[in-house]
Amino acid sequence: MDEQAGAPRGQWHEDLARIDGQHQVLQAGTKQFLALLEESRPQAEATRALAELVALLELHFHTEELLMGRAGFPEQHAHSLLHQACLQQVRGVLGELELGTRRPLAELRELIQVWIHDHMDRQDQRFEAFLKHKRPT
Ligand SMILES: [Fe+2]
Ligand SMILES: [Fe+2]
Repeated sequence: MDEQAGAPRGQWHEDLARIDGQHQVLQAGTKQFLALLEESRPQAEATRALAELVALLELHFHTEELLMGRAGFPEQHAHSLLHQACLQQVRGVLGELELGTRRPLAELRELIQVWIHDHMDRQDQRFEAFLKHKRPT
């Protein structure tokens, strides 16, 4: 049986697909959250959407870090710190919404762009490239 670091053949391909799938769910979640704000829906709806987004982010970061550990990604620690910083900031916004305050829409849009979309495009891309290089599928 062909194995590397305890993972069977095709594992890296599956890992990439799993990350991609979660990223798509996160992108849909952020889009929905921003749409609720743009449409000036009741604050409770945006708060609920952001709480769901935080839960998705927690799950996604956990998954990604698990896969990084299994693959032996050398930048895992630095990457995990970025995840923690992202979660801290997004949870902070959620706390504000729960208290009934809201940052300007442009600021929230910028925050999501930097912490979620730019992170996927730049940081996660480094892990994906590492996986592809490690075991082309
Ligand atoms: Fe990610
Ligand atoms: Fe990440």
